[in-house]
Order: sequence, then structure tokens, then C-alpha cells
Amino acid sequence: MTDQYVVFGNPIAHSKSPLIHALFAEQTGESLDYQTSLAPLDGFTAFARHFFETGRGANVTVPFKEEAYRMADQLTERGRRAGAVNTLARQPDGTLLGDNTDGAGLVRDLKVNHGITLKDKRILLLGAGGAVRGALEPLLAQEPQALVVANRTVEKAEKLAQEFAELGPILAAGYDWLEEPVDIIINATSASLSGELPPIAPSLIQPGETFCYDMMYAKEPTAFCRWAMEHKAGKAVDGLGMLVEQAGEAFYLWRGVRPDSKPVLAELRRLMAQSA
Ligand code: ATR
Repeated sequence: MTDQYVVFGNPIAHSKSPLIHALFAEQTGESLDYQTSLAPLDGFTAFARHFFETGRGANVTVPFKEEAYRMADQLTERGRRAGAVNTLARQPDGTLLGDNTDGAGLVRDLKVNHGITLKDKRILLLGAGGAVRGALEPLLAQEPQALVVANRTVEKAEKLAQEFAELGPILAAGYDWLEEPVDIIINATSASLSGELPPIAPSLIQPGETFCYDMMYAKEPTAFCRWAMEHKAGKAVDGLGMLVEQAGEAFYLWRGVRPDSKPVLAELRRLMAQSA
């Protein structure tokens, strides 16, 4: 039987993961089948266990990443730090390994696709939810000069800063505490989903220099990217590359082969531009 993979979520119908993994499989000559799987909100673990009676691996998306973390028998270090997993891999002995490839996907997109150096940079992360938690260990591993986590609810940022302090120079802030320009701003709030923006000062952007990154992506520039360009950011990009790179990291974990994400990203952009 062909090796079976799925992405669990609820909702899940519009996931781009099956397309991304089909393109990876074609490119690398790996033989696998990858489908969406609508897991029940009140019975994720049993549903996933049933899949893994024969299935080889799964991606996990909203709202099951914490449940997937709890059901994993072993965790990678970055999965443990994230407290959530987006990738499960069945091991030869039948146990489940949990990993979180979101943060590594972000770092790879920044470094490889956008040519950004993170070492010694001043990085500002907006938000303090699951997306930020998953990004902290991989970002701090790049040895930035400072990593500031700013959030509407400051206590959540402070809690993260305390928890990750041993890994590097991490600070917490409220949005209105910040004025000085930074090198990189990463929007990881869910505000973009409703076209809203965290209330941050335009002075955080050094005109022509500051690199702005929105973890969200859309056919049209996101509200955060539009704001960044209005204030003359050096560059403003969305998170489609992160989506492809986190998938690439998962593919690598499952198959031991690293796909080339560039043509896959180009194909996704092309399809998004075509869609109504
Ligand atoms: P995710 O897993 O995508 O990170 P989450 O854990 O629900 O989602 O976190 C959402 C993040 O977006 C939080 O940092 C939230 O701020 P609070 O912790 O203060 O709630 C932030 N957020 C959502 N809507 C926002 C808005 N309109 N303005 C600013 N921040 C917003």
C-alpha cells in the first residue's frame, strides 16, 4: 500500500497542504498519498490513533496542535518548547514522534527565500499566542541582538519571555511601549484575519531598511504588509513561504529527503493569483 499521510484540522477543506506535498512528492520521486482529514472537535485523539493504525504521518492544524502534542509518545526539542505539534510521524516501533516545524519554516523562509540575516538583529514579534510560542526557539537559535515579544495582553508576552529567557535575549512589551526602529518586524497576531492591525508606532520602521513579515498570507497584500509599505519599510512579505517551508520540514522528517521549495512556492503564488 502507498504510504498514507494526512493533515488533521477542523475546518480543513481549504488546506493547501495536499497540493504542497503532492508537488514535493512529484519533485523528489517519493511515492506517497496525502489527504485532508476533518477530525471531530470532541474526539481528536481516538480519531488520530485510528489513522495511525496504518498511516505513516500527519500534519496537524487548528485547533488540534495542543492535543497532538499531548498524544505524542516522544517530542523533538522544538516541539517540546512549542507546547504544540504540527507534525506527527509514526516510528518503526509504532510510537508517535511529535515535532513542530512552524518556527523552523519561518526561519528558513526568512533566511533562504528572503536572504535575511537574523544574527545580531533587533527583532520584534507581534503577538503572544501559539504562533509566537512555536517561533521562539528557532528564532533565538539564530542569535539575534534582541527579540522583543509585544502583545495586547502584556502578561502573556511576559510569561513567554520568562519561559524562554534561558535561550537568549528575549524581552516582553506592550504595543505602546515601543518607538525605536527595529530591523525586523514579524506579525504573528490573528488580527490580520479580520483586516485589523496591532496598534504599533510607525517609528518602529526605519525607512528603506526594516523588513516586515506577516505570518498570514492572502492573494492581495495583507493589512500589515500594506501598513508596512505605507511607512516605507525596506520590504514587506507575507507568510506563504513559511507555509511551504514548514511543509518541507515535515516532508524531510517523514521521508529523509529535503524538497526544493522554490518551484512549489512559485506554483502556489500562480494558483492563488488565478483564483477568484
Ligand atoms: P495563534 O495560534 O494564531 O497565535 P492565538 O493563540 O489565539 O492564535 O493568539 C492570537 C494572538 O493575536 C494573540 O497574541 C492576540 O492578542 P491577545 O493575547 O492580547 O489576545 C492577538 N490578537 C488577536 N486579535 C488582535 C487584535 N485585533 N489586535 C491585536 N492583537 C490581536
